[in-house]
Amino acid sequence: MRAIKIGLFGFGCVGQGLYQTINNSKNFEGEIVRICVKDRHKVRSLPESVFTYTKEDILNDPSIDVIVELIDNAEAALEIVTTALKNGKSVVTANKKMVAENLEYLIDLQEKTGKGILYEGAVCGSIPIIRTLEEYFGHEPLNEIKGIFNGSTNYILTKIFDEHLDYTQALEEAKEKGFAESDPTLDVKGFDPKFKLSILLTHAFGINVSPEKIANLGIDHLQPSDLEFARKHGYRIKLIAQASRKNDEVFACVLPQFIKENHNLRNVNNEFNAVTLNGEFCDDQLFIGKGAGSLPTGAAVLSDISALSYDYKYEYKKHYNQGKVHFSSENAVTVYVSFEKPEHIDLNEFEAVSEKFFCFDRSYVIGKIKLSKLLQSKWVYNSKISVVQFDNDTEISEELDLSALETEILELRKGQKLREKISV
Ligand code: HSE
Repeated sequence: MRAIKIGLFGFGCVGQGLYQTINNSKNFEGEIVRICVKDRHKVRSLPESVFTYTKEDILNDPSIDVIVELIDNAEAALEIVTTALKNGKSVVTANKKMVAENLEYLIDLQEKTGKGILYEGAVCGSIPIIRTLEEYFGHEPLNEIKGIFNGSTNYILTKIFDEHLDYTQALEEAKEKGFAESDPTLDVKGFDPKFKLSILLTHAFGINVSPEKIANLGIDHLQPSDLEFARKHGYRIKLIAQASRKNDEVFACVLPQFIKENHNLRNVNNEFNAVTLNGEFCDDQLFIGKGAGSLPTGAAVLSDISALSYDYKYEYKKHYNQGKVHFSSENAVTVYVSFEKPEHIDLNEFEAVSEKFFCFDRSYVIGKIKLSKLLQSKWVYNSKISVVQFDNDTEISEELDLSALETEILELRKGQKLREKISV
């Protein structure tokens, strides 16, 4: 077999990781022949002659077999990928936003061009979850898929809980280590794991759900009192991406979650990711691996390039045979919501409230709320509000009377206002 000729777009953290994995693999037959980058003035570790600043130099080069797209601009990435497939080249990408937002289109384009696009590196770094879902679980109905899909936030939360580092310091470390996105709000607000979850919905359940339909909250609003609540109850907090199927309905969201002592994700720390899945036949499975970083992600990209050498393509088995399964946000999750001022939250949007703690500085309620409300209600995204989910099997005490709560909230509000007046 002829050695694969690779045209690479982007030479950042993952691009350099790929370069190293190719150089250190003993049996991979291929080479990066050209790299397209944006910044002419950056000092590079490779000879100038390898680089180009013109995308056509790669996209129109007939000697190049595979385009590897590792830039972080989703719009530009889509353009590159589209041209590459139309030019008869196979593609590997790790751009989760681009894939998640355009999967329907990309599936169609692959059908039309007959060329494949692989994106294992886009989801949970080094964990081979997409090919596992496609190949191993292609014919098994799945009930649930969930886990830690973002390395940066897991790193930050590990540092906060294990080493008592503060949030800003831990985030700086995640950036220095190359785990965070160029725009880290994508990590800390839960968008990055949501893109990954949206991609897995196609491979696990056969449904294409555009990311804006999936509720996501991150870890950037967590307050010291929330961490204290978690510690007091023996919990850690992790950012969990989750999708579950009940009959024909699939629910999905990304939310910070309290993790109990004996939980199987409790000791998945730092930049490690984990995917748990439950299948109708196989029952529970757990996959753990590094979810971010230059070499682990580079390794996933290398594996995709090598799969292309034997013409591997995703068959989207479940997508083509999805039956009646559809996406819904009408299920309720149990959440702890803490707030500074009662006017910041809307108790009427809860299905039920089972616990409350009202205090002048920071209060909280625990209750059930539908995912559709989390998605649509503006108050949920106020930086003065933090939301943490309880695991599905957490026992919740009986329901409180909502109208009595409203009265108490009014009293709290009056008290706070009075205090503000006195302190002026
Ligand atoms: N920023 C991402 C993360 C990189 O922290 O998981 C890997 O997708």
